Amino acid sequence: MIAELYQKLDALQREIEASAPASSEELEQFRIRFLGSKNVFKPFFGEMRNVPNEDKRTYGQRMNELRTIAQKRFDDAQAELKATDSGAKSHDLDLTAPGRPYQHGSRHPVSIVMNEIIDIFSRIGFVVAEEREIEDDWHNFTALNTPENHPARDMQDTFYLQANADLMLRTHTSSVQARVMTTQKTPIRIIAPGRVYRNETVSARSHCQFHQVEGLYIDEDVSFADMKQTLYYYAQSIYGKDVKVRLRPSYFPFTEPSAEMDVYWGLKDENDYRITKGTGWLEILGCGMVDPQVLINCDIDPDKYSGFAFGMGIERQAMLKYRINDIRAFFENDVRFLRQFSTAVI
Ligand code: PHE
Repeated sequence: MIAELYQKLDALQREIEASAPASSEELEQFRIRFLGSKNVFKPFFGEMRNVPNEDKRTYGQRMNELRTIAQKRFDDAQAELKATDSGAKSHDLDLTAPGRPYQHGSRHPVSIVMNEIIDIFSRIGFVVAEEREIEDDWHNFTALNTPENHPARDMQDTFYLQANADLMLRTHTSSVQARVMTTQKTPIRIIAPGRVYRNETVSARSHCQFHQVEGLYIDEDVSFADMKQTLYYYAQSIYGKDVKVRLRPSYFPFTEPSAEMDVYWGLKDENDYRITKGTGWLEILGCGMVDPQVLINCDIDPDKYSGFAFGMGIERQAMLKYRINDIRAFFENDVRFLRQFSTAVI
């Protein structure tokens, strides 16, 4: 008789161990069957009085053991269900509800234009060179032939580091020219994008921080015509095939001759008159043939090598391209401004 009871209890143990409640309904059924007030063990307790005295203890222990096993199975199954439950009960799900838009960021217009400029020059063999923003006097000024008394060196224009007067925030990416010419072997063909700083009053047209891209090409027999053609290719690539450009003589301490390149913007409305000062032309970059003295400063033989350099403000290109009339918009991080570029390829 008692053997039969044990067999039934063994069968129940196997049932408990094999059961895997996969929903809260199945879990509830498991609870009712094994742990509820009318659980399957109840009748077995009733049988206790028929069990011989010397077996009562073991029999009782066996039933307690089974209850513990059932309780453990229940706890485990409940924990598993909680872990897989996303929080929403299946009947809370409204499959017809509209999707929630996924808010993703967008490239900053300065990055978009910077990448475009890098792309354009990469296609004709220019390699990106990135350099430090804290620069020393030699790379930012002296190597570039900028005399001691040049106004750019003035505290009014340059942010010097208080801790070390020889260090400053670079005022132009031309400092990368000196870095590259003293570390790389000729021929050199680089573009250097990056942030630059000038101690200027912030206004719609100028800012104390902005971005430039520098270009430098040093090889044997590089001519002014090479520079002109390279810059013309650039202007066509970024402003369209029909762009009209002109080179105007200019002055930079590190190039000779020096020039500035203008693109024809047109004079269609009042705004055009304002930004082109009535000429219809807009300056987009500075350029020139690398001054032989700069080559000498950087240990490059000017009798063997020549080259050209150019530098342009990225915000300026972006302002022209997207018709943005206040440079401050680039640094204010107003999402209403930034979001307008979100359709651009990321
Ligand atoms: N560094 C100059 C500027 O900031 C631009 C320039 C670069 C001019 C290279 C000539 C050659 O205005």
